[in-house]
Amino acid sequence: MSYTPKILAFAGSTRKESFNKKLVKIAADAARRAGSEVTSIDLRDIPMPLYDGDLETEQGVPENAKKFKALLLAHDGFLISAPEYNSSISGVLKNAIDWASRPLPGEAPLACFAGKVTLMSASPGALGGLRGLVVVRSLLSNIRVIVLPDQVAVVKAHEAFDIDGKLKDPKQQASIEALGRDLVAVLKKLKG
Ligand SMILES: Cc1cc2nc3c(=O)[nH]c(=O)nc-3n(C[C@H](O)[C@H](O)[C@H](O)COP(=O)(O)O)c2cc1C
Repeated sequence: MSYTPKILAFAGSTRKESFNKKLVKIAADAARRAGSEVTSIDLRDIPMPLYDGDLETEQGVPENAKKFKALLLAHDGFLISAPEYNSSISGVLKNAIDWASRPLPGEAPLACFAGKVTLMSASPGALGGLRGLVVVRSLLSNIRVIVLPDQVAVVKAHEAFDIDGKLKDPKQQASIEALGRDLVAVLKKLKG
């Protein structure tokens, strides 16, 4: 039976009109067309408290953090669109990763991250969030995620999308779609 990669797609932003949510949707749709099963999630739907060691000791890992971790575990690869905040990772993405990295009883360390990821970012700024991607790439590599080499940063994101959520620049649209397709191809090679 042929292998169907399972991919989890999300943005590191909870904003309703998030450019990164639009961007990851383009890659997710392309990954679906390339033969994978994609689960798209919105971190807004699974709010987690700020990581606090005392809260963890007293109440354990919060339900939504467990839910996020279970989603990571249930998928072979991730598509992440990461906004840049002050040249770095957004708090919401870092916090979700921090909670998911906490071991639950009987679980191998960092089990939910031993997957694959491909990265993208959209920002109204002139660098499109490139500096943030450097941080996200390094962080994920350090927790045993294999981060694929290709990434795309969309500059002037407030002008980049049409009303259907597609990128106005066909070359840019194609490069984001390629990120989705490439992740599927790598997963099929590695796990198929
Ligand atoms: C606290 C904060 C810091 C930001 N820092 C940067 C930055 O360093 N570089 C940049 O290009 N944009 C920066 N921005 C702008 C974000 O890229 C922009 O708000 C973007 O739309 C956020 O992503 P989203 O549309 O997916 O929510 C910052 C925004 C906020 C709120």
